[in-house]
Amino acid sequence: MELGLAGRRAVVTGGSKGIGLAVAEELVGEGAAVAICARNAEEVEAAAARLRGSGATVHAQAADVTDPGQVEAFLAAAAEALGGIDVLVNNAGAAHPGTFATLTDEDWQGDLDVKLFSQIRCTRAALPWLRESSAPRVVNINAVYARYPDHKFFATTVNRAACLNLSKALAIELGPEGILVNSVNIGFVVTPQWENIRRKRAPELPAEEFFRQWAAEEVPLQRFGAVDEVSGMVAFLAGDRASYITGASIDVAGGMGKYV
Ligand SMILES: NC(=O)c1ccc[n+]([C@@H]2O[C@H](COP(=O)([O-])OP(=O)(O)OC[C@H]3O[C@@H](n4cnc5c(N)ncnc54)[C@H](OP(=O)(O)O)[C@@H]3O)[C@@H](O)[C@H]2O)c1
Repeated sequence: MELGLAGRRAVVTGGSKGIGLAVAEELVGEGAAVAICARNAEEVEAAAARLRGSGATVHAQAADVTDPGQVEAFLAAAAEALGGIDVLVNNAGAAHPGTFATLTDEDWQGDLDVKLFSQIRCTRAALPWLRESSAPRVVNINAVYARYPDHKFFATTVNRAACLNLSKALAIELGPEGILVNSVNIGFVVTPQWENIRRKRAPELPAEEFFRQWAAEEVPLQRFGAVDEVSGMVAFLAGDRASYITGASIDVAGGMGKYV
């Protein structure tokens, strides 16, 4: 399938590892130029070096998506380096595990900042360039928990629901301008984030067994996903074959989430 991404200019937040790096690799593989950011400067540079290996144009910058000034500076530098922005993938994020009883106001605010406000601010900062694009796209990386409440991930459940509503409301507001906005909802995907959780909770268990146990109850396919099982969907939504898809909420989750 020809996605038409050759020559497109894409920004991927949190592109130094995990899902974000896989998305950047997928887009570069389709011929796009990419800009990535994350807080750890060394990891951003290492990821950029890997992406440039294929000859792609890559802009890499250390930036924290919870800092409004850094967001604006990153998007402006990305647009300058790539010559514009056609695709924004709001991927950067982190989990604040905890129940209602354990989460503090600071946890709630931190979680809102990294999930919801990062998507609001990055989208706002990218909009002037998206408006100039011939095929503007926003893909928001979200979680199945947005629609499938779980009190063990209380902040994620509540704040991801807000992200899902943001995607849909943005799709409605920006649709008349031809800017497409979609949400890709992740279930469980093996990434450095989950490797850290495994090391903390069950360092004695082999990774395969840890992930098998987590998936057993919740995931009909009985396994965690791999990052390249997400990146293909993101590239599809960023590409020409998704030209009539906006406001969609698409699960890449092995069937996880008991809802229709
Ligand atoms: N993996 C899953 O099962 C799963 C499930 C549901 C939703 N998600 C969502 O999918 C997205 C990617 O997750 P992942 O599993 O790939 O996570 P990951 O392996 O921890 O990677 C997260 C990426 O985001 C960056 N990042 C985190 N906080 C940032 C900040 N404040 N500013 C800029 N960059 C930041 C990280 O780099 P730095 O730390 O250097 O900043 C890294 O590049 C996240 O939004 C996550 O919530 C993942």
